[in-house]
Amino acid sequence: MSEQWSFETKQIHAGQTADPTTGARALPIYQTTSYEFRDTQHAADLFGLVEPGNIYTRIMNPTQDVVEQRLAALEGGVGALLVASGQAATTGAITNVAEAGDHIVVSTSLYGGTDSLFRHTFPKLGIEVSFVAEPNDPQQWRDAARDNTKAFFAETIGNPRGDILDLEAIAPVAHEVGVPFIVDNTVATPYLLNPLKHGADTVVHSATKYIGGHGTAIAGVVIDGGSFDYAAHADKYPGFTQPDESYHGLVYAEALGPAAYITKLRVQYLRNVGPAIAPFNAFLLAQGLETLSLRVERHVDNAQRVAQWLAEREDVATVGYAALPTSPYRALAEKYTPRGPGAIVTFELPGGIEAGRRFIDALTLHSHVANIGDVRSLAIHPASTTHSQLSEQEQAGSGVTPGLVRLAVGLEGIDDILADLEAGLAAAKP
Ligand SMILES: Cc1ncc(COP(=O)(O)O)c(C=O)c1O
Repeated sequence: MSEQWSFETKQIHAGQTADPTTGARALPIYQTTSYEFRDTQHAADLFGLVEPGNIYTRIMNPTQDVVEQRLAALEGGVGALLVASGQAATTGAITNVAEAGDHIVVSTSLYGGTDSLFRHTFPKLGIEVSFVAEPNDPQQWRDAARDNTKAFFAETIGNPRGDILDLEAIAPVAHEVGVPFIVDNTVATPYLLNPLKHGADTVVHSATKYIGGHGTAIAGVVIDGGSFDYAAHADKYPGFTQPDESYHGLVYAEALGPAAYITKLRVQYLRNVGPAIAPFNAFLLAQGLETLSLRVERHVDNAQRVAQWLAEREDVATVGYAALPTSPYRALAEKYTPRGPGAIVTFELPGGIEAGRRFIDALTLHSHVANIGDVRSLAIHPASTTHSQLSEQEQAGSGVTPGLVRLAVGLEGIDDILADLEAGLAAAKP
């Protein structure tokens, strides 16, 4: 791969050449659990990391490898790790740096499942979590940090709040405190935003969404920028600077330099905890990636049209989309996502929760599902679904009001999308 290649070229070619054995040009699905060792020395060298190569599909797989290389290229990282879901990606990204007795600081503007992971699961594992009410206020992050803080975490575009994270305001605080800045870039996609270029150290995605793009595979990815110097913070991150007894006494920061984080994630989290992606799902992600830029351009075009159309209507109370002139995030959107702030549009019906329900039930083209990032247009009422486990106050922090509707604008003809929304709005009227 050439570093000079455009995004469009990398999304098709990075990480893959024709299969050397068969000549297969498309990415083969290596549907195998294991790989034959040439002899006992070869096996010992692979296990000892003396020689790179495949051992077992829980830890690595050639189909997975291509997608990892491609995603690392698209985000500008030193390496990537595919896992079984976005939730597994976030869990791994955090537990690679934090353990029982540690603390992390996170934004309140989060996908409901991520909020639940931080609010309920991590505390049970002994990792304390502080939530920052206003994610773009650097002082709130600074005030929340403690001596045992090990990471900052936020979404680059909050789902569903649609707020744009001011990466360049928060990253310096993370680095002043001496912790990595880990961000979820799912809603933005690597085509619209590369957080590593704005100071983030590690990026996670729910690859289930725009990366796969067709609503067919649950998957997640962690991409590391190699930018956080764990060796320089040896007291804080002994897992990087002390020998790993579970892995032949390997000292990650010493042996692997910038690849320390992503290698540790693979050989500790993926190997020991085991959230491996199926080779077929990795293949589906590769299919999606080949058209990522084209799909995202059209998603954004349609979302702009839907947001403007909704904003002009009297039967809609408010519309959330960062590219609208009225949005408080417009300036940040122009800075960080000049090609457009994704395709999630939210709006509030004046009739509250009942009107929201009637609206959703009247839609026929839009699918009523708990997903985003599909070619199909999707609609949901977050307060009764994705964010239902949060209290009303916690919902408000994530931007979820009782009558809020979230649209994940798809790739259908715009007139058909608007006609369906028109039918929904007619049904929502009191
Ligand atoms: C922003 C964001 N992050 C993470 C996730 C979790 O991803 P997955 O469903 O692939 O586990 C989601 C799922 O909706 C999401 O929207």
